[in-house]
Amino acid sequence: MRAVIATESGGPEVLALTELPDPVPGPGEVLVRVAATAVNRADMLQRMGLYNPPPGASEVIGLECSGTIEALGPDLGEATWSVGDEVCALLAGGGYAELVAVPVGQVMPVPAGLSLVEAGALPEVACTVWSNVFMLAGLQATDRFLVHGGAGGIGTFAIQLASALGAKVFTTAGSAEKLAVCADLGADVTINYREEDFVEVLTQAGGADVILDNMGAAYLERNVKALADEGRLVIIGMQGGTKAELDIARLLTKRAAVLATSLRARPTEEKAAICASVVENVWPLVADGAVRTVVHTSMPLAEAARAHQLMEDSGHVGKIVLTA
Ligand SMILES: NC(=O)c1ccc[n+]([C@@H]2O[C@H](COP(=O)([O-])OP(=O)(O)OC[C@H]3O[C@@H](n4cnc5c(N)ncnc54)[C@H](OP(=O)(O)O)[C@@H]3O)[C@@H](O)[C@H]2O)c1
Repeated sequence: MRAVIATESGGPEVLALTELPDPVPGPGEVLVRVAATAVNRADMLQRMGLYNPPPGASEVIGLECSGTIEALGPDLGEATWSVGDEVCALLAGGGYAELVAVPVGQVMPVPAGLSLVEAGALPEVACTVWSNVFMLAGLQATDRFLVHGGAGGIGTFAIQLASALGAKVFTTAGSAEKLAVCADLGADVTINYREEDFVEVLTQAGGADVILDNMGAAYLERNVKALADEGRLVIIGMQGGTKAELDIARLLTKRAAVLATSLRARPTEEKAAICASVVENVWPLVADGAVRTVVHTSMPLAEAARAHQLMEDSGHVGKIVLTA
């Protein structure tokens, strides 16, 4: 099969299309012929040699895909997939390729009405946002929700999902154009992080019940300040570094929580439970158009280097798709 690999650690230019042996589905896995995959921030870190795949996962970059089932491995339990079914899947790796073997619990149907290009950009954002904001932080319809980086892949999905489920949505982005997109997607309050202080905006509104954060260390202190009493800060990204001071006194007074998770590193059973919950709770909203995948652009797998450069330059809104 053709696959994109990083020939060495480095910038986008180290990505190259190459020939690799076809993967063989092991017990509990299906083989998917990839139609589309999408770029994630973690892909940049893996390309730079800073984020190795978990044990047993493909060395090929790529955390999600859409496509058709090419073959079924042994021991699939109660799964009812057939060869030729259109699916999308959450991956621990291997998406930047024509074929990928996937644990069957991470294979999901394509929501009704979605193209395979749109579906290829869906698993990572849907599973990340649903598992963190709803399953873990328990966002309620009466809550105030702050998501940073509202115009990114995660942000565009989180705004829509939280808004569809009734929460009041606050979001940050770095330009007026990006904030306008966030407002179109359902954000109630948009904050230009280059010009405004999100802590002030949230404090005046009564504080955030849930914050989904991509900035890590750089925003830890301000995020804790922006939390409401009993608020939950969920950190999923480290774009602003990994080490910072935490004011425990402020956390105690607010009876607040700081949580951090990585989807990729979770055991396959947990990923299967997240995928099942996403199919049950999120897919109906995607199918009826309340939540959609925002695809900035789609380009062939061979242009993965250009796609990585685009994400590094933050020149995108939503997801960048690669077609196999
Ligand atoms: N833990 C997990 O399981 C998991 C899973 C998926 C993703 N993630 C993480 O989630 C984050 C978002 O992923 P993504 O795919 O949505 O990436 P993305 O599309 O590149 O979005 C990142 C966003 O960060 C924003 N940003 C940059 N500096 C900022 C600042 N100072 N304040 C607020 N926002 C800022 C950018 O907005 P502007 O262009 O407006 O500056 C951009 O829209 C990444 O850190 C990724 O690693 C974690």
